Amino acid sequence: MKKIILFADPGIDDSVAIMYALRNPEIKVLAIVSSYGNVDKEQATDNIAYLLKLAGREDIPIIGGTNAPSSGETPTYYPEIHGKEGLGPIRPPEDLQVELTNFSELYTIIKNNPGLTIVDVGRNTSLAALFLLGENLTKDVSEFYIMGGAFLVPGNVTPLAEANFYGDPTASNLVMQNFDNLYIAPLNVTNKAIITMEHVNTVLDMTDHPLVQILDDVMEYYIEAYKKLIPGIGGAPLHDAVTLSLMVNPSMGKTIRREVEVFTGVSGMGTSSADFRVSSKNAEKNINIFLELDYEAFLKDFIQVMGGP
Ligand code: BDR
Ligand code: CA
Repeated sequence: MKKIILFADPGIDDSVAIMYALRNPEIKVLAIVSSYGNVDKEQATDNIAYLLKLAGREDIPIIGGTNAPSSGETPTYYPEIHGKEGLGPIRPPEDLQVELTNFSELYTIIKNNPGLTIVDVGRNTSLAALFLLGENLTKDVSEFYIMGGAFLVPGNVTPLAEANFYGDPTASNLVMQNFDNLYIAPLNVTNKAIITMEHVNTVLDMTDHPLVQILDDVMEYYIEAYKKLIPGIGGAPLHDAVTLSLMVNPSMGKTIRREVEVFTGVSGMGTSSADFRVSSKNAEKNINIFLELDYEAFLKDFIQVMGGP
């Protein structure tokens, strides 16, 4: 059983990742950190609260993360993919009770749960803040799983950059340079984690759990958005859910260990770079980069977890 703190910015694929984490018996979610990213922090928080309510898991604290990237600039949101409110056509009810826990609570959770894993599927600003708080907190975490980057493949927000690393490249680079036991799931693998409406319907036939039922509308919106972006795609990539699936089933992917730099300058901003020459493999700050995914194994795991009891 993996105990995790999940950093997210839901967002549709973040929401599916939250559902996956809540429904997976191999994962215990200790807290969810809400930050700006696909939508603003307030909307992300409402969406998390709604998902927790549907799951009957209001006991899980929602921790208030960051509002904006470390540059202080206004974030760019992506309504064309996630919908204006981040859950496609679905809106949390007006009378939803939402309570935010202070960021400093992370200190207590991390100190009380040695060996836990942090999973960050959003911009890395809040994760960088954890490091900047000091107290050696990041040393008490056994491993970090991060969705971000694109290595020698096209980006998704610029020709070279992926959205999470582009959103706050300074934070992402700080994480790459200072954190130990990092695993990153870049677009190389997450773009392959395509879910179609057929897969969604398989899941919907397996359970009538209210949390899972919203997949119907949410995934339809997300898949239609991707079809407009990439003609012929047939489904949409679950970047964030596959990162969690890889955490539980690391043998489903293949990693290569290399140092990673995220470009922070204006030119090529957010680009992730690693030296894949054999001669560079014994570097000091090596990071586990997933470059291959067993798609069939992911599909099987996703359907089993989402449709499970
Ligand atoms: C990543 O960016 C976000 O928009 C998605 O939720 C995912 O975490 C993909 O590049
Ligand atoms: Ca995300």
